[in-house]
Amino acid sequence: MKILVINGPNLNFVGIREKAVYGDESYEHMMGVVEAYAKEKGCDISVFQSNHEGAIIDRIQEAYFDGTDGIVINPGAYTHYSYAIRDALSSVEKIKKIEVHLSDIKNREDFRSVSVTAPACDEQIFGLGLDGYLRAVDSILKMS
Ligand code: DQA
Repeated sequence: MKILVINGPNLNFVGIREKAVYGDESYEHMMGVVEAYAKEKGCDISVFQSNHEGAIIDRIQEAYFDGTDGIVINPGAYTHYSYAIRDALSSVEKIKKIEVHLSDIKNREDFRSVSVTAPACDEQIFGLGLDGYLRAVDSILKMS
């Protein structure tokens, strides 16, 4: 099972940014936990982070050709307005897609409660912090 984790803008600043919202564990630590968890479950996992919309779209398209079975994506703020990322996710129909958010986007500013990317995904998980990524890996395994 080949899993790709994609993190969007500012997620590389987790551990530095708004600690009251996102916690004080570093991005590297969090992704290390996700990688170890997925490997323990027998998955081949890679993690990609970009602050650029086009780079995220390029990586989703690459996943179509590289045998990726499941994408765990936290599009960051692009969640709320990137129809281009939504279209890219919709394009890769054969790949399972889970949207994850560290914070509880339904109980923050109004603009965060709307996800334009979630309809292109099989499931959305939010408000569970790092655990959300682990649940997403479990979900992909269960769906396959
Ligand atoms: C986030 C929520 C988004 O609203 C925000 O722009 C982020 C992080 C989350 O993981 O909770 O950058 O996706």
